[in-house]
Amino acid sequence: MRVKKKITWLSIFIPSCFKSENPSDSTPLPKKPKTTKTKKAVSEKSSLLERLYYQSDLSTSSTTLSEDLSNSLPGSNLHVFTLAELRVITHNFSSYNLLGKGGFGPVFKGFIDHKLRPSALKPQPVAIKLLDLDGLQGHREWLTEVIFLGQLRHPHLVKLIGYCCEDEHRLLVYEYMPRGSLENQLFRRYSVSLPWSTRMKIALGAAKGLGFLHEAKKPVIYRDFKASNVLLDSDFTAKLSDFGLAKDGPEGDETHVSTRVMGTRGYAAPEYIMTGHLTTASDVYSFGIVLLELLTGRRAADKSQPRREQNLAGWARPRLKDLRKLRRIMDPRLEGQYSEIGAQKAAALAYQCLSHKPKRRPTMSIVVKTLEALKDLDDILGGTFVYIVPNTDQSDCMHRKHVKVGEERKELKKENGCHHHRKHQMNLLRIEANFAGWLLVCSMVLEILGGKLVCSVCCMLFIRLRKSDVVCYY
Ligand SMILES: Nc1ncnc2c1ncn2[C@@H]1O[C@H](COP(=O)(O)OP(=O)(O)OP(=O)(O)O)[C@@H](O)[C@H]1O
Ligand SMILES: [Mg+2]
Repeated sequence: MRVKKKITWLSIFIPSCFKSENPSDSTPLPKKPKTTKTKKAVSEKSSLLERLYYQSDLSTSSTTLSEDLSNSLPGSNLHVFTLAELRVITHNFSSYNLLGKGGFGPVFKGFIDHKLRPSALKPQPVAIKLLDLDGLQGHREWLTEVIFLGQLRHPHLVKLIGYCCEDEHRLLVYEYMPRGSLENQLFRRYSVSLPWSTRMKIALGAAKGLGFLHEAKKPVIYRDFKASNVLLDSDFTAKLSDFGLAKDGPEGDETHVSTRVMGTRGYAAPEYIMTGHLTTASDVYSFGIVLLELLTGRRAADKSQPRREQNLAGWARPRLKDLRKLRRIMDPRLEGQYSEIGAQKAAALAYQCLSHKPKRRPTMSIVVKTLEALKDLDDILGGTFVYIVPNTDQSDCMHRKHVKVGEERKELKKENGCHHHRKHQMNLLRIEANFAGWLLVCSMVLEILGGKLVCSVCCMLFIRLRKSDVVCYY
């Protein structure tokens, strides 16, 4: 867990780079900043980065850009790839290797083999994001991603391995995350439902990533926390990706950063949407939304739901504090298999994160602590419904209707004898009932045909069966 030293100068320079995002700032971009002799070294870097931010765009010479970046990010270990290399790695960006597509552009899987950079790069799978030149994002998002992820390293942030800028092409090369995004895992129709403990592990991992950004020496506001930006490793370790919208937090006496409102519908904090004032509490709100998604299995904004349920926060928040209501909004795909205490605590946490007053929201370190405490709760409710057929002879064996899965197994072991007997009897009853059913149908047919004798025999046979036994099976 570390922030590279460079975060300090990153934070010194980046705020000015984003001035153009301020809605009140429509003045032309300033030229080179004034420098003083005492800060000569800093100023050199400053002018370099400011030039990148203010003056670079897709038409900037890629050689200049790469040089400026590697001078500005020494020690970042970012590799500069050529487009030809990335073509080889992805089989010419073959559609077979397409992992998905977002606002930046398509994402392809690739494999760096031992021949590519034998001494510098170990063989590994990678994910390569290619800027869609007709899309809404562009050079600035690419640059922000390179600068932030080039310097921030943490087990819960996705690792940027390198980048490519050639002509107008802009690409990013990341470590490959085998389980894709949380969005895919949680909402994909035909995927296996994520178990409760995995959901809590993901929430905790993502909270740690966000906490790391907020508690860095110079805090970073992530601004785009959402299920599709939480990527999952093979063991469901969560890592934050997409730093294209990230911003340095307020400095000194400032309470917020003013920006153009950007982000994703359903996740952005209400005060940020209303005022453009951005704080770390805006990220906490978005975290609360993702926590709600994990609890309910519903999307932050879902047009397929009835109108009043389309906005997840509006629908779910009033139901988070009442246990009965909470049970009703829990993800049905969990099939009741979750820790009830854990769910209550997670729901109370989501409630706080979604407070309309930013100051009432917890900090991410409190969120992390709260979630840490839920990890080991083992009061997982049994989802299996066991119905035992009432039988007067074996009344001592039948004292339970709902049994927790674990207890049920023990119970069954203890009662092995009576269980087998009961099972045998059930089978006999089932056969008898089936047989009676068929006779009844036959007798009705025969009665129609005038066979009154057969009809009465059938009825007698049917009456012989105890009503309750038959009802148990039909
Ligand atoms: N490092 C990675 N490893 C594996 N899959 C990835 C990686 N990065 C992205 N993906 C996959 O690519 C898809 C698109 O990701 P991308 O971040 O470009 O878009 P998004 O998050 O869905 O949308 P947005 O542009 O709004 O952030 C995701 O669904 C994710 O599964
Ligand atoms: Mg994304």
